Amino acid sequence: MTRYHLNEMPDAWYNAIPELPEPMQPPLHPGTREPLGPDDLTPLFPMGLIMQEASPDVWVSIPGEVIDILRMWRPTPLVRAERLERMLGTPARIYFKDESVSPAGSHKPNTAVPQAFYNQQEGIKRLTTETGAGQWGTALSFATAQFDMECKVYMVRSSYEQKPYRRILMETWGGEVVPSPVADPSSPGSLGLAISDAVADAAQREDTHYALGSVLNHVLLHQTVIGLEARDQLKLAGEERPDVVIAPCGGGSNLGGIALPFMTDRDVRLVAVEPASCPTLTEGTFEYDFGDTAGMTPLLPMYTLGKDFMPPTIHAGGLRYHGDSPIISALVKAGRMEAVAYPQGKTFEAAVMFANAEGRIPAPECGHGIRAAIDEALAAKETGEEKVILFNYCGHGFLDLAAYDDYNNGRLIDG
Ligand SMILES: Cc1ncc(COP(=O)(O)O)c(C=O)c1O
Repeated sequence: MTRYHLNEMPDAWYNAIPELPEPMQPPLHPGTREPLGPDDLTPLFPMGLIMQEASPDVWVSIPGEVIDILRMWRPTPLVRAERLERMLGTPARIYFKDESVSPAGSHKPNTAVPQAFYNQQEGIKRLTTETGAGQWGTALSFATAQFDMECKVYMVRSSYEQKPYRRILMETWGGEVVPSPVADPSSPGSLGLAISDAVADAAQREDTHYALGSVLNHVLLHQTVIGLEARDQLKLAGEERPDVVIAPCGGGSNLGGIALPFMTDRDVRLVAVEPASCPTLTEGTFEYDFGDTAGMTPLLPMYTLGKDFMPPTIHAGGLRYHGDSPIISALVKAGRMEAVAYPQGKTFEAAVMFANAEGRIPAPECGHGIRAAIDEALAAKETGEEKVILFNYCGHGFLDLAAYDDYNNGRLIDG
């Protein structure tokens, strides 16, 4: 195992929008179906983030106050998974970017911190949000604690019940956590329903805004620190470029974060990995749809399974979303990004192989990317190709051990 370290994190985010293969379609107002203006979003978001949603600039400076906090764990290490390579007997070189070293244990604080910062700058005292796996709610609770703000988290009920330790982490950082949907205690919930709960709460109070952990352009923008660092670290490792960049895709933020900085290099393949039980990119349709289930959010141009799609309660709670980021959707539609789907049994098999080779226990979401990375490495073994594979180690699985217990004891439903 070789680690590649940088001394400094980037001082600007990479905005892919001006460089996309085709221009993006605008979000539409949920009532009028006309393109949204900045003022339409002010009840929910601060102007600092609204301007980033449609920024024409390729580089956006990261405020010093944000860098000061991200420096607590950034730059994150790039690791060559040599033991996994040996286990697979592949000529491929496999690298992963270790985003599990953040305080919340995933990539999510990369955007939680700037979102809390821009809200605090505009005098907002309280943020509401949804969380699926619990990773995003933990990240936002950590970030709001840094800026002395309150945080209320609507946690998808199936995860609330599966993962009590995530709730305890959020509460330790001062977050208030309730199971969603609030109005229907018999429902396992979904990200779409939890977004509706959080938006409805924020819309009622002057001192409150809403924060979204994925999907939106500004979220992917903030996550590009991952790929920007990885690009420099691969150079340190003596690699000109990766042949393929892989990440799991729920709403698309960690995937966008690692992949977008490689987007303009046509020699780099970009691969999204999703659960077979929630196959948004591989089986959904590209159309305007709501981000939430109640139909309160703007209409976004994206691949979707329909806002009422109720995904099965798989362990990768962060991948149970009916839609996808418009940027990721545009790349898949343009043929610039590939998408694959796996049933959860195959992803846990890969996660356990990785855990035995490299010693780390990945989050179930992360197991999806690892599955695809292993399959790329096995394909390279067949052809004898010295392929360079980069994947995002987007979170650890220390609070997902019940899922491993199910897998280890043959109780995992292979949906
Ligand atoms: C560890 C981890 N990876 C991936 C995801 C999926 O989200 P996104 O596609 O926005 O990265 C989540 C979402 O909660 C997550 O917790």
